[in-house]
Amino acid sequence: MRTFSTQCFPFAFFCGYLKIVIHKLLETRLQQAVLAVLPEANVANVLVRPCPDAQFGDYQSNALMSLAKERKMNPRQLAEQVKARLDVADLCESMEIAGAAFLNFRIKNSAIAEILEAAARGEHLFFQKTDQPRTVVVDFSSPNVAKPMHVGHIRSTILGDSIASVLRLLGHEVVTDNHIGDWGTQFGKLLIGWKHHLDREALKRDPIGEMERLYKLVNSASDADEKVLESARQELVKLQSGDEENLRIWREMIALSQHQFDEIYGRLGVKFDHALGESFYNPWLKEVVSELLEKGIARETQGAIGVFSEGSLAQKEDPFLTQREGEWQDNPCLIQKSDGAANYATTDLATLRYRLETWHPQEIVYVTDGRQQLHFRQLFATFRRWHPEVQMKLAHVWFGSILGEDGKPFKTRSGDTVKLAELLNEAEERALKVVSEKNPELSDAEKKEIARIVGIGSVKYADLQQNRQSDYIFSWDKMLSLQGNTAPYLLYAYTRVRSIFRKAGEQDASKLAQNVSLSHPDELALAKHLLSFGLVLEAAADEYRPNFLCTYLYDLSGHFARFYESCPVLKSEEPQRSSRLVLSDLTARVLKEGLQLLGIETAEQM
Ligand code: ARG
Repeated sequence: MRTFSTQCFPFAFFCGYLKIVIHKLLETRLQQAVLAVLPEANVANVLVRPCPDAQFGDYQSNALMSLAKERKMNPRQLAEQVKARLDVADLCESMEIAGAAFLNFRIKNSAIAEILEAAARGEHLFFQKTDQPRTVVVDFSSPNVAKPMHVGHIRSTILGDSIASVLRLLGHEVVTDNHIGDWGTQFGKLLIGWKHHLDREALKRDPIGEMERLYKLVNSASDADEKVLESARQELVKLQSGDEENLRIWREMIALSQHQFDEIYGRLGVKFDHALGESFYNPWLKEVVSELLEKGIARETQGAIGVFSEGSLAQKEDPFLTQREGEWQDNPCLIQKSDGAANYATTDLATLRYRLETWHPQEIVYVTDGRQQLHFRQLFATFRRWHPEVQMKLAHVWFGSILGEDGKPFKTRSGDTVKLAELLNEAEERALKVVSEKNPELSDAEKKEIARIVGIGSVKYADLQQNRQSDYIFSWDKMLSLQGNTAPYLLYAYTRVRSIFRKAGEQDASKLAQNVSLSHPDELALAKHLLSFGLVLEAAADEYRPNFLCTYLYDLSGHFARFYESCPVLKSEEPQRSSRLVLSDLTARVLKEGLQLLGIETAEQM
């Protein structure tokens, strides 16, 4: 588990609770005013959000429009009545009704300064923990045994880790689980390869590489020769029925793969609470199939067993139907093949029930690529029919592909899939060049360490910064550039703030006088941006979109750059000097926290 730099939550939670996040405070007061005018109203949707155009104010609510409409009232009149009941004089410089019934609030500088001062005392970092914590299982990474982890798995690992971190920071109980693919038909071929063609030396050098070679070898042999395919099938049956030797080899393959996966996770700084692979669920598969049969949810089809449409959904939303040649046809979710073996879907159903019984989650999040959308729609729909009594949110957080600069799936020059370990090596090598050019006077060890942070951080950021559902082009030059929305730009911005403190010789900003005064417009803009950190975290968590956080941090760096250009910090007189140092320190803390949530380490210089 991570440790976070803000450690004063219990205190902040009880006494400064609403003061931290100003829009929440406005929201509560507005809801009370609405209730005073319309006692029967449901105010859950009466929200206050940042104003899209700073010209009109800092925060805005458009909730009165629909309240008026529902009651056939004049919106302007309702707004006037609510305004009369709303006392925000301690927080707002002005509150205006705009358009038909928009309420615009402009926050007092002194109120903003107060929030900043509390943050400087370490009472909060512009967000508050949820008062409705949920238990959320996050299923991510989930590579397959005996196969190299490729760039496709990187998105799941990086996205899943960041989503879990944000949820955790907001106070949810998060359980991370790596659903490793350690069971499946590939083991028949792998067993043949292992028994007849294994090169022990090569296995020592590069276990997954050797297993991949064995798989490919037997795979092409079985394409050419039906007998090879048949013996692979027999090896698989032996494994599935508990043959000692096959089990021993299978376990060795898992251990070797796990070792290599762990190396990658170590480099990425990713940890899991659990890594329960597919095979863990074998004891329950038969039971799942017979329960679904008994309940009439699944039925036999050509020797196999599948879940079919029950007809309750509109055809185009029904995951068990598909349109072929202009007609709707069955598209069942198979849970048992005609040879009696269970499959991926059966395992996922057993997994769902295990998680439900073990962790009692309110939500399960699956992070995989977009090609598994149908699988998860069918899985969720089957589960709802199987356990209609369970109220649990099930979310498939899917993502697009990583493309090469030619716009085709990302491959090496020779056309092979790019391996994650090699990709990370290259990232660090390229970052070393950038760091050495920027800072030739650093020692070799320092350069290497910074290059590691920048290299890994760049790969992660390039991925997280995207709308996850779009494909994106993997470009070394872009992701390692010091300009634009990149990790190096943000990491550099962080070092710039930190260097102010090195020059000032003041290490501990909390010892500074904590009177914050905001007079320059760039100072104010930076302060207001800091205030919206919590809102962004909530949005990123609600929609499982770390890219919201990336955009926020990029804008924060921009605000800081403008502030730093127009407002001298070290050269200004007290008390302005301390006030500006506090503002700089809070910027650095939010940057660091934000980057940490993206799984990105920071360096003090680069
Ligand atoms: N091992 C799978 C793959 O590489 C991903 C598993 C995702 N999780 C799940 N519960 N199905 O495609």
